[in-house]
Amino acid sequence: MVMVEPRNRDVTLPAYRVTIEAGALERIGDLVREAAPAHRYAIITDSHVGPIYASRVASAVRATSDTIFTVPAGEAHKTRDTWASLTDRLLVSGCGRDTTIIALGGGVVGDLAGFVAATFMRGVPFVQVPTSLLAMIDASVGGKTGVDTAAGKNLVGSFHQPAAVVADLGVLASLPPEHLRAGMAEAIKHGVIADSEYFDRVVAVASSLATIEVVGPAMLHLVARSIEIKADIVTRDERESGVRKTLNFGHTLGHAVELCSNYELLHGNAVAIGMVYESALAERIGVADAGTTARICDAVRSAGLPDSRPLPMSVERIIAATRADKKARAGSTEYALPARVGAMAGGDRGWSIPVSEDLLRGVLG
Ligand SMILES: NC(=O)c1ccc[n+]([C@@H]2O[C@H](COP(=O)([O-])OP(=O)(O)OC[C@H]3O[C@@H](n4cnc5c(N)ncnc54)[C@H](O)[C@@H]3O)[C@@H](O)[C@H]2O)c1
Ligand SMILES: [Zn+2]
Repeated sequence: MVMVEPRNRDVTLPAYRVTIEAGALERIGDLVREAAPAHRYAIITDSHVGPIYASRVASAVRATSDTIFTVPAGEAHKTRDTWASLTDRLLVSGCGRDTTIIALGGGVVGDLAGFVAATFMRGVPFVQVPTSLLAMIDASVGGKTGVDTAAGKNLVGSFHQPAAVVADLGVLASLPPEHLRAGMAEAIKHGVIADSEYFDRVVAVASSLATIEVVGPAMLHLVARSIEIKADIVTRDERESGVRKTLNFGHTLGHAVELCSNYELLHGNAVAIGMVYESALAERIGVADAGTTARICDAVRSAGLPDSRPLPMSVERIIAATRADKKARAGSTEYALPARVGAMAGGDRGWSIPVSEDLLRGVLG
């Protein structure tokens, strides 16, 4: 069990430490140098986060402005093109195997910079400095990196664990409210997967999100508990051959609606929609307790997140998009489904359940 301290919490995975602390950026230089000593540090960030935080991080690790690499913000840029341009720019600036990459941004930057780190010079170390709620509680932990393709999300990527994760709650003060809400979707997911009591606490935070103190105890406990749940699962199953599949709850349909919206729907909003439909699916096929969907739907609404597909989006398009999912097999797609809030269905019999497209039509229709 991890230690709880009043102002900060550390979660130690077998290979790396996750520091969760208001003001952690103040000592980012020491944290990064300790976890990943390097000749040179390259900072990958985006056009929203870079102007606010990159120079602070750069001076702490004694990086110059020519090793701050800024990409346009947004999911539409999590592509092979951006990956190619970043690796070219690293080479032009003289970065080599002795470079450590710092991913400073939301989940898009984390996935992208992690994939650059996984592939540049056949792999260099990287440190995750997540700046969105979603990246803090989910994307920065677990070592999944990658980019999207026209066929679907995250279809090209690699497992590459960070050397450390540094989450400074203070940076959430500049996160736009819609992205704070989007992050709550992953917290709701963690509650559904592993902890019903935590689920209720997430709903309480969600209901007061507009006025919440981002460096206060409620947010600290939310970030810490979510990371603890995610860290526990990925430590038990790093490569997703078993229990890690449960983290895909809400994501098979979520990724499909996200793709169908041309990434206009935020990832968290798409996951919220996905969780509502997937729990309905679980009730319909009899693996979930009655009332599970209603509870999840209420939680999603309390966070101000959408609970159904945008109406112009056709059921058939969504179903076609699920076929691109990594979990698709001939004629049916595999889903991680809840048994109730706090526990997933399957267990030793396998954590993903094949669902036919006809069943899907029934739920989405
Ligand atoms: N690797 C994983 O295990 C994993 C898990 C969950 C999600 N993801 C990925 O994460 C991505 C979604 O992440 P996201 O929701 O963080 O999106 P994002 O990276 O696009 O960030 C959301 C927006 O907020 C801005 N932003 C971030 N932090 C800010 C701050 N502190 N102040 C001001 N603006 C800030 C960003 O510039 C962006 O415009 C998706 O691509 C998803 O696939 C990956
Ligand atoms: Zn997600």
